[in-house]
Amino acid sequence: MALLEVRELGKAFGGVAAIADLSFAVPEGSIYAVIGPNGAGKTTLFNMLSGVYVPSDGAIEFDGSSLAGLEPHQVATRGISRTFQNLQIFFNMSVLENVMVGCHQRARSGLYRAALRLPGVVREEQQIRAWALEALEFCGLAHLAERPADALPYGELKRVEIARALAADPRLLLMDEPAAGLNDTETAELRELIRRIGARGVTVLLVEHNMGLVMQVSDTVLVLDYGSKLAEGTTTEIQNDPRVIAAYLGGEVQYAVQ
Ligand SMILES: Nc1ncnc2c1ncn2[C@@H]1O[C@H](COP(=O)(O)OP(=O)(O)OP(=O)(O)O)[C@@H](O)[C@H]1O
Ligand SMILES: [Mg+2]
Repeated sequence: MALLEVRELGKAFGGVAAIADLSFAVPEGSIYAVIGPNGAGKTTLFNMLSGVYVPSDGAIEFDGSSLAGLEPHQVATRGISRTFQNLQIFFNMSVLENVMVGCHQRARSGLYRAALRLPGVVREEQQIRAWALEALEFCGLAHLAERPADALPYGELKRVEIARALAADPRLLLMDEPAAGLNDTETAELRELIRRIGARGVTVLLVEHNMGLVMQVSDTVLVLDYGSKLAEGTTTEIQNDPRVIAAYLGGEVQYAVQ
């Protein structure tokens, strides 16, 4: 069964369609990649899925319910978390505090209860710390929990963002170019982390330019071109699709199949 279903989705900026008539379904438990050249509409798609942009057309269903009209925090509460193409880290906070931010949708107390410091709130704070530490542990970052975020190199900060998204306990994780700016060792570690996230039962929607990584971890690949679906299939089907090779993969295919 599909956890996420997108039907005839469209988004126009002024007169320009960034996404047009896009339909696809992501099966629960799968790792589903969306690839395509710069400007193809990948981040615009993520912004619609996470409630940042209101679609111009079409429908998004998550776990059988429409996401229409939901604000980003409401989408997060339904079970969708994301990481960002451009790092969104609070540099004046510790690594642990950055990850704790991801748990707020998961916690029950509102700001009002928190301000009154009701007994349950203190327990809840401890619960949030425990969730955040578990996510850091899962991402291999527990030893850095108390460090200030601005003391970490870029590759580790990308991982902190993944921990923050996981700390919300999502059913669907949207990852926007997680390998961008990583060296080969960090990219290999990321590949293992994505596999472990999948093994944990979290469905992953992966936007990525690194074809080696995409072909190694994905169950299904969707190719976007000028906001529309050019092709969709298994990694083998995509690597052998003449339209995809002509429009996009070109010389990268050789690298991808290694
Ligand atoms: N807020 C916006 N206002 C106007 N145009 C936008 C906006 N966001 C995106 N676009 C346009 O929509 C198109 C798709 O952009 P998008 O960022 O989704 O591409 P992308 O596939 O993520 O590219 P990249 O691989 O470079 O990250 C581009 O032409 C972009 O200029
Ligand atoms: Mg993008």
